[in-house]
Amino acid sequence: MSKRQKIVILTGAGISAESGINTFRDADGLWEGHDVMEVASPEGWRKNQALVLDFYNQRRRQLKTVVPNAAHLALKELEKQYEVVVITQNVDDLHERGGSTNIIHLHGELKKVRSTGDEDLIYDWEDDCVLGDRCKKGYQLRPHIVWFGEAVPALEAAVDEIYDAHHILIIGTSMQVYPAAGLVGYAPRDANIYYIDPNPSINYELQRRNKLEVFPEAATTGVRKLVDRLLV
Ligand code: APR
Repeated sequence: MSKRQKIVILTGAGISAESGINTFRDADGLWEGHDVMEVASPEGWRKNQALVLDFYNQRRRQLKTVVPNAAHLALKELEKQYEVVVITQNVDDLHERGGSTNIIHLHGELKKVRSTGDEDLIYDWEDDCVLGDRCKKGYQLRPHIVWFGEAVPALEAAVDEIYDAHHILIIGTSMQVYPAAGLVGYAPRDANIYYIDPNPSINYELQRRNKLEVFPEAATTGVRKLVDRLLV
């Protein structure tokens, strides 16, 4: 049997928009009413830990009220015929619940927390995390989220996956936040790139690709069309 082709799927907030989770770069430039640096930076954490914990508690609670949409669900179908890796900037678990099996979370996960004194101590976390919740070594726990200015530990694994991809699907991301937005630059020259987003922004890496096809539409309809085409 011939080796299966490989699809790498890069997703951003837009794929979860139709599940009811707001994207980041809305018109007001705020994230759920907050300046992003207040709730997504080490400085913000140092300034007000209770506020930051509460912000992610609210996001974690919201996650329990939403479900994967048709785009998340369609992506799992690709696993019937392809080797598939999802590399997401999203901290929700909608790809997991949508059935995808090989997922890299570049920016962390809402349903995990980690120690502020030992970054290897990571815990699954379903409910609220408050001041006084500690790791086994006694350090305060914090959200397992990559904040602005922090390293992206999963980046190397993501680059390794993209090097030998035949197809790259980019779904619902403004392609503004690096290093995630630069990952497509590691794809082979002859890889097919598909970009699904109602408001696509063709960044430097995408401008340099000649095998780029843009679907300027919502994830649920665009992913359906593309999956049907790729499953032959
Ligand atoms: N279907 C597909 N795409 C959509 C939809 C939809 N229904 N609705 C909106 N979009 C698109 C927007 O057009 C935009 O291009 O989703 C994108 C969302 O962009 P951002 O809000 O910038 O989200 P993202 O690219 O994931 O942000 C990257 O920035 O704040 C940080 O760490 C955070 O992971 C996040 C990163």
